[in-house]
Amino acid sequence: MTLAADKTSAGYDVAALRADFPILRREVNGKPIVYLDSANTSQKPQVVIDALTEHYTHHNANVARAMHLLGAEATEAFEGARQKLATFVGAARPEEIVFTKNASEALNLTAHTLGADLKPGDEIVTTVMEHHSNIVPWQMLAERTGATLRWFDITEDGRLDLAAAERDGLINEKTRIVTLTLVSNVLGTINPVRQIADQAHAVGAKVVVDASQGVPQMPVDMAALGADLVAFTGHKMVGPTGVGVLWGNYDVLAALPPFLGGGEMIEIVRMTGSTYAKPPHRFEAGTPPIAQAIGLGVAVDYLTGVGMEAIAQHEREITAYLLQGLQTIDGLRILGPTEVVDRGGAVSFDLGDIHPHDVSQMLDAKGVAVRGGHHCARPLHERLGIQSSTRASGYLYTTTGEVDALIDALGYTIKFFRGK
Ligand SMILES: Cc1ncc(COP(=O)(O)O)c(C=O)c1O
Repeated sequence: MTLAADKTSAGYDVAALRADFPILRREVNGKPIVYLDSANTSQKPQVVIDALTEHYTHHNANVARAMHLLGAEATEAFEGARQKLATFVGAARPEEIVFTKNASEALNLTAHTLGADLKPGDEIVTTVMEHHSNIVPWQMLAERTGATLRWFDITEDGRLDLAAAERDGLINEKTRIVTLTLVSNVLGTINPVRQIADQAHAVGAKVVVDASQGVPQMPVDMAALGADLVAFTGHKMVGPTGVGVLWGNYDVLAALPPFLGGGEMIEIVRMTGSTYAKPPHRFEAGTPPIAQAIGLGVAVDYLTGVGMEAIAQHEREITAYLLQGLQTIDGLRILGPTEVVDRGGAVSFDLGDIHPHDVSQMLDAKGVAVRGGHHCARPLHERLGIQSSTRASGYLYTTTGEVDALIDALGYTIKFFRGK
């Protein structure tokens, strides 16, 4: 199989960029690492690793409370990171960026605050293709309040079944919250968020988007997306673990009650009761992920330097190449769209008689890292009639040579298990 090379048409040199990621120089089981698990977590460029060391070596202090030089430096860097994130996603102001520990916390925050006044008869709408992070918090909310959880089904080709939703009146006058993923972490499907958001707003519902797989892969502009609250996670976008983001339209955030109580989220505390700070601090109780947020700020500088359009273009090319390679394998079923139209970079597949855990283990022996399991999307797998799948996911540093290595290793795996 040939495809033009690892100089993407988007215009950056993948081989040169790979030199920024020290981990890509290591070997696994005696083979050069082929890291195709970026939908799980991405690798980190040296500048991000250095930012963490730099912070702890020279500027470490708590933020917003230490009245000394180090405290001022740490606060400036932390708030600077908030500004960088705001610019990166087109937020109207930095106060729309809330730092959390990951996307899961951002979504739980949303379910607790936005859903605080739900009552029996109210409806929350999600989709069957969600990560558990965008199902379980809403199930818990429904249990607490007596509200009903409903969901979009999918079509055979792994897209949201908009026709069935329309027919069933899924979004209606009882709907209070509509929450969905921008990009599926299993199927790769990019959902028509704007269209669904407009429909939800028309009945007065609020819209929450899980952009954990979207923000790393493509330019995402909050105004264009049309949601009220959007969650994403730092570690999938070349940033550190331990930091996530909740973007919220400022007026929406300002109307929400707090989530966790503690230091820094208050205005005045008396033994008889407390008043709360304005967003974003209302939602950032206790010491925030300072070094991680600063590292995430450097990560978005890095992504911006490469160019999000260029990254999206590379992702499309490498995904097309991967889909093409997988389609040459007998008996392999790709889950989700098989063409790169409204499709992100996660490609999951089923080999029928060969268990994904066996596949992952065999691939690992060849130095190829993929994920085997239900990828925290068990309801989706159940809907697809399988228990688990194997997922390969590239990113801005993935080469066609790595995809070739995966296809070769899959051939070897199939021969091993099927004997032909
Ligand atoms: C679509 C999606 N949503 C949410 C999450 C949760 O992210 P985190 O584990 O960082 O909270 C993930 C991570 O796999 C994801 O892929």
